[in-house]
Amino acid sequence: MTNNGPLTIRVKASGEYDILITEGAIFSVGTYIKKVIPLCKIAIVTDDTVDKLYSQMVFDSLVTNGYQVVKYVFPHGEQSKNIDTYGDILNFLTENDLTRTDCIVALGGGVVGDMAGFAAATYLRGIKYVQIPTTLLAQIDSSVGGKTAIDLKKGKNLVGAFCQPRLVVCDITTLYTLPANVFDEGMGEAAKYALLDEKIYDLLKSDVRDLKKLIYLCVDYKRKVVENDEFEKGERKLLNLGHTVAHGIERLSEYKIPHGKAVAMGLYAILKASLKNKFIDKKTYEEMLDVISKIAPEHDCPFSIEQIANASLNDKKRSGDNITLVTVHGVGDCRLTTVKIQDLTEFLS
Ligand code: NAD
Ligand code: GLY
Repeated sequence: MTNNGPLTIRVKASGEYDILITEGAIFSVGTYIKKVIPLCKIAIVTDDTVDKLYSQMVFDSLVTNGYQVVKYVFPHGEQSKNIDTYGDILNFLTENDLTRTDCIVALGGGVVGDMAGFAAATYLRGIKYVQIPTTLLAQIDSSVGGKTAIDLKKGKNLVGAFCQPRLVVCDITTLYTLPANVFDEGMGEAAKYALLDEKIYDLLKSDVRDLKKLIYLCVDYKRKVVENDEFEKGERKLLNLGHTVAHGIERLSEYKIPHGKAVAMGLYAILKASLKNKFIDKKTYEEMLDVISKIAPEHDCPFSIEQIANASLNDKKRSGDNITLVTVHGVGDCRLTTVKIQDLTEFLS
């Protein structure tokens, strides 16, 4: 892998598509889209922050390439990832007469990607969509693999669909406008990958900060998992490392604690539980903590284990009286562990 020019990763799932990792493609994104989407009407879906930064250049590039373009903008943040905004997007699509041959472009972070993706998966029983992820979290994780969703009052991502995009265009230069805290949230998700994959662990253990390589390794790791288990029957569940706890924390905070930060909190909780339940020894635990804390420092969690365990009961990973957690047994060795609901607090505490 060299550091110059776009990198392409091809995902071979129920839909096949390329993920481009580039520096500067946002200005000419229409030319990349034109290779996979015939001329049609495109609805750009984005949030108000990203709109001000990147909509115009995407709009212009699409128009230059012959597309008819409309745009829907909603207020940024997880609080928007709900059934109301989803309904507004669908109404916008009908008002603008998008048909089955048309396309959505999701321009933004994971909130935009999940919600625009879900609209694409369901509008007219499914239309095409393209992801242009603009946060680190979205570039290494949420734009890849076709999970789309919105939140319900009871919890995160409780309504959704698997629906693969036609193309993902990551432009690393868009990350330069991210506030530091939002960049760090992406590092929470990168810390998850580090525990799942030795190559990513070694990269983050070294002091070299090669963002393009990090994005490439995370996307390529996720590609392999998605190709093996697109619909999360087994292996893909490992990507939920730290997430059961994280989703509980997000909901308890009424989504004021952002996803990536909650994932980092979830990772620390699971690492501690893995030590306590003797899945890893103290030396391994301390070495992992050292690596993880360099990229995703531990933050105080304002909720008790009892509160988090209770909130986690609405998680999708619950099945009857059991809940499946991902536990850490070594670097690159994470496993599914089923815990009885009544034992969850004790398991985590
Ligand atoms: P986000 O989409 O809310 O973005 C975070 C903030 O950054 C927002 O305020 C946004 O406006 C702003 N922003 C985005 N790009 C910017 C840029 N280039 N410059 C300046 N500001 C920018 O949050 P996120 O962390 O990207 O995504 C979190 C969401 O992703 C959660 O809802 C989570 O559930 C979901 N997720 C989904 C998957 C999946 O597989 N589908 C995986 C992981 C996370
Ligand atoms: N973020 C978890 C998954 O895509 O499966």
